[in-house]
Amino acid sequence: MMRRTLGILCLVLSAALAVGATASSRWEHVPAKDHARANPLANKPEATAAGAMVYRDHCLQCHKAEAQGDGKRRPSLRSERIRNASDGDIEWFLRQGDLGHGMPSWSSLPEAQRWQVVAYLRSVQ
Ligand code: HEC
Repeated sequence: MMRRTLGILCLVLSAALAVGATASSRWEHVPAKDHARANPLANKPEATAAGAMVYRDHCLQCHKAEAQGDGKRRPSLRSERIRNASDGDIEWFLRQGDLGHGMPSWSSLPEAQRWQVVAYLRSVQ
């Protein structure tokens, strides 16, 4: 009985560790073909302007007006990590979200709006 309880405890613990590991290394898990995707709307001022509106409607409440984050759980989007990520990495992450850590998935937005917001994020670095 004791042994069985211990076994279950170990299972739960290793599952928790696995989840933690995935979350902290999410940018390394972007599939190669998504990583390589270029923003079809890059360098289009009207796309950046549209992205600012998408940002205001959907992102500002958590990541704040200057994309500086809330200093707590919601990270700044003006960071080394964002600058080092490819456009495709960011678009992929927006589709996935990270609900376990409070980041919604934006897969229901039209794809063009995700690229617009990627263009906007580039413009505020
Ligand atoms: C309900 C709050 C909330 C909203 C709304 C939200 N986010 Fe997030 N976002 C988060 C949290 C919390 C994280 C950190 C998740 C984690 O640690 O895995 C995050 C992480 C991110 C990251 C990864 C940052 C990094 O350094 O790894 C990006 C990029 C991002 N959000 C972009 C956006 C964009 C663009 C929008 C709007 C379309 C948006 N978020 C809307 C809460 C939110």
